[in-house]
Amino acid sequence: MAGLLLYCRSGFENDVANEVQDKASRLDIFGYSQTHTNSGFVLFNCYQEEHAEVLANKLAFANLVFARQLFACKHLIEGMPVTDRVGPILSACEEFPLCGELRVEYADTTDGRELSKLCRKISVPLRQALRKKNKLTNKDNNKKPVLHVFFTKTDKAYIGYSFPHNNSSLPLGILRLKFPHDAPSRSTLKLDEAFQVFIPKQEHDERLQGGLHAVDLGACPGGWTYQLVKRGMFVQAVDNGSMDEALMETGQVTYCPEDGFKFQPKRKNIYWLVCDMIEQPQRVAKLMAGWVAEGRCKEAMFNLKLPMKKRYESVQGALVIIDEVMKVHQVKSYLLQAKHLYHNREEVTVHLRLG
Ligand SMILES: C[S@@+](CC[C@H](N)C(=O)[O-])C[C@H]1O[C@@H](n2cnc3c(N)ncnc32)[C@H](O)[C@@H]1O
Repeated sequence: MAGLLLYCRSGFENDVANEVQDKASRLDIFGYSQTHTNSGFVLFNCYQEEHAEVLANKLAFANLVFARQLFACKHLIEGMPVTDRVGPILSACEEFPLCGELRVEYADTTDGRELSKLCRKISVPLRQALRKKNKLTNKDNNKKPVLHVFFTKTDKAYIGYSFPHNNSSLPLGILRLKFPHDAPSRSTLKLDEAFQVFIPKQEHDERLQGGLHAVDLGACPGGWTYQLVKRGMFVQAVDNGSMDEALMETGQVTYCPEDGFKFQPKRKNIYWLVCDMIEQPQRVAKLMAGWVAEGRCKEAMFNLKLPMKKRYESVQGALVIIDEVMKVHQVKSYLLQAKHLYHNREEVTVHLRLG
């Protein structure tokens, strides 16, 4: 067997399958997806074995909306003896390149998490054995491929490797964040994660600095505004609901009880536009693209709330609308990233800026 194994949030397997099918075919690579509802992963089987590695290299991870992680899957081991799991895994890695890191993982589901102890336990002896066999560098090396062992049962694991330029550097592809005790809503974690995922760390000082002006559409009770205020920004919070009082007391927030679709900012120097309004994705996409294309803000971060079905198609439709707005405004170059973040549920987060 050879394919691409992708991790996702439980319940989004079909969306990953649709996306990988679509994007792999654009690279002239064909195959079929094996999905199990609520399994938290998808295996895309390639008709040609060598294509698994091509996909792991070339199917740009950063552009995949619904996948948290991917690797070229080379073997499926079933019926591993309980007394020796290391042996069969070692044999499966025989043809692998020298890897710089081992990750023994599981799906982010209730069943999957029950395997976490086993994964931790097996990591140490497996790492030692792989080093002895020259399949793993003596010290972790982030320039070399990552060796993945993905357990789905105590005796069943998918084995393969990913490339450091095209994978998530995070265990399980998940960015875990601590909920700040004084934040007004759990939504705050979504914007925090979005900033960390989409804005390179070395650019935070410039693009997320104190003193910048921001507009938050659909701001109440203030989880997103909290992230902006925490970074020292001044925020116009647009919503008819009620804002968290402690946030208002910072003096950094101007409350604007207006319709986010009609709102005109009181100042011209808006850097960030953020938006978490519960609205049709096409409508939000058009609004956001208009702001960026007309130079009413420098960067936009927004959520697209997704329908229950055809979520991949819905995201693609919204991205096409953004492209059309940019064309109408004769914008030649812009940066657009969309991701189903760990803290997202039935929504994806999109980042848009000129450049
Ligand atoms: C998911 S909540 C926002 C949560 C917020 N981001 C937070 O972190 O606390 C959506 C908000 O959008 C607001 N909203 C929906 N449609 C709106 C519109 N047309 N104009 C302004 N606000 C709107 C709702 O009143 C609601 O408070």
